[in-house]
Amino acid sequence: MPERGENIPYFLVALVVINELRKRLAHGVQLSWSLPPETLLLAAMPILLPAALVAGLLAVLARSRLRGRGGEGALHAYVLTPRDSRSKAEVDVTLIHQVLEATGLEGHLIQRLGSSGPSAPILAVAEPGEEGAISAKAALSALRSVLGRELEVVDMGRRTWPDLLRYRRKRGTPPTAKLKLRLPSSEVDHPSPAVLLGYDAGRRPVRLPVNLISKHVLLMGRTGSGKSTTAMALCERLWSDYGIPFLVLDHHNEYTGIVTRLGGSVVGASGGPSLNVFKGLASNPQGVNIYVEVLRDALNLTPSQTFIVHRCLSSALRVSPGEDPTLADLMDEVSEYRERSGPEMESKLALLRKLEPLVEGEGRAHLLVERFPSISELDRPTSILLGGVESDTVRDLLVHIILKRVYDGAKAWGLGTPLRQVVLVEEGERVLPTISDERGATVTDKMLGELRKFGVGMMIVTQAPHALSRSAMRNSAIKVIHALGSPRDFQILKPLLSPLRDGENDPASAIFTLRPGEAVVVVEGRPSPVRCAVVPPSVDATPITDRELAILAQLAPSFHTLE
Ligand SMILES: Nc1ncnc2c1ncn2[C@@H]1O[C@H](COP(=O)(O)OP(=O)(O)O)[C@@H](O)[C@H]1O
Ligand SMILES: [Mg+2]
Repeated sequence: MPERGENIPYFLVALVVINELRKRLAHGVQLSWSLPPETLLLAAMPILLPAALVAGLLAVLARSRLRGRGGEGALHAYVLTPRDSRSKAEVDVTLIHQVLEATGLEGHLIQRLGSSGPSAPILAVAEPGEEGAISAKAALSALRSVLGRELEVVDMGRRTWPDLLRYRRKRGTPPTAKLKLRLPSSEVDHPSPAVLLGYDAGRRPVRLPVNLISKHVLLMGRTGSGKSTTAMALCERLWSDYGIPFLVLDHHNEYTGIVTRLGGSVVGASGGPSLNVFKGLASNPQGVNIYVEVLRDALNLTPSQTFIVHRCLSSALRVSPGEDPTLADLMDEVSEYRERSGPEMESKLALLRKLEPLVEGEGRAHLLVERFPSISELDRPTSILLGGVESDTVRDLLVHIILKRVYDGAKAWGLGTPLRQVVLVEEGERVLPTISDERGATVTDKMLGELRKFGVGMMIVTQAPHALSRSAMRNSAIKVIHALGSPRDFQILKPLLSPLRDGENDPASAIFTLRPGEAVVVVEGRPSPVRCAVVPPSVDATPITDRELAILAQLAPSFHTLE
């Protein structure tokens, strides 16, 4: 005999065709689906009967829609079961939508009301064809990751609509619970928010305070020692626990898996990123100085070449006022520049040789045309694919310009902003090189010092700490040292490691014998370094293939190319 509650006709009260709904609602409306208390539900029963009819109709419509798209079986269902059954439910539809959009899928949220309250919501995802199978897998991982703290995401497998409509709530399934899926960083109200890094030798958790992450993190170690995995783990936890998004300057296209599985976007999926180096200069002509410094650092210009660039960029601005110049305009101005001496002519010719590859071939593809998202508005994990850019100079310039944009955006957030965005830089020694110790601070070094005040935490990954500027070393509150590769690196880090106390008398032996994923962690304000086994990210971090990326870009172009 079914229990009494099961005999009462149940109603399909909500069939939210998420994408459709979102499209119809004005931009910026936060969809939040609150489930009313049980008493309200009972009082509302007379209204629910017609609602059921409407819902039924919707179901039929949705079914025919799906049929039109590939048939009866084209659904994959997940039950969202709350882990904590004590409080009331609120499913963040926007978040689910974000995950679906990231993976290019169409989803429907279904919930059934019985006499004893609503059932656990079911998310039905329209299964894509063969081509999109990757997206279905990515959707599940992403859902588990973003919803997983509050909800258990149980895979019901392939279902048909009639199947789902017949679905009965099992006896004892807990009522839906209050879900607070993610807090914007400004609302992080925990007294001292921190993320887990791993465990020390005594199995005690090693946590990194969020306020220190905004004062920058250095991740060091030889190839294969675990740096990128540690970076991914920290980024994932900042995102899942506090809603703090991360932006990766992805030199090896290795973060695509984690970013898409967390519901984020990939920039440059079709051929790499493209931007106009001088975007915004026309409306802010005083900006010439900083652009000249950026070019000096990224292209390694001599003082004389820097002087010529300054003169020529200023005149390019005067030639067409109100219009942002491009590197091609700069190049034209340099060609026409009248040198005043033999040595200056040498400089000019050498400068032209440096600029030429920036306006042709790869340079033309990446540095002239603006097709780039507004960085300070990125509110989800994002990877900028630099792996396909072969020229070191073009890649370095892209990185410098992107960091400058991060900095400009962050300045607008104001001084004293708590951690709001993390920017992860691989190959840190190319971005913050030792040259600044000899020649005076580079722009990136200066920005690093300033960014901490504006709510941007940098995570700098390097396999060559000895080649990193001393000021970058000083300007980072957290240092995660994986197994080192060379004695030169050890020499640089020795002063930090001397108070190492974990049963190892000789810090050198510890630092060379760490296994992948093990690290020594030095945290500002803590007296001694700690040896720590890093807990890897909870979602699959394997990069997705180029083909899968192409499919994602095709399924959700506005999401993945972010033009
Ligand atoms: N925290 C960890 N736990 C377990 N294995 C790890 C961990 N970190 C790294 N590894 C292993 O080491 C390999 C290399 O890690 P990776 O992060 O790519 O190193 P790196 O970025 O320093 O070159 C990974 O593929 C993984 O197998
Ligand atoms: Mg790596």
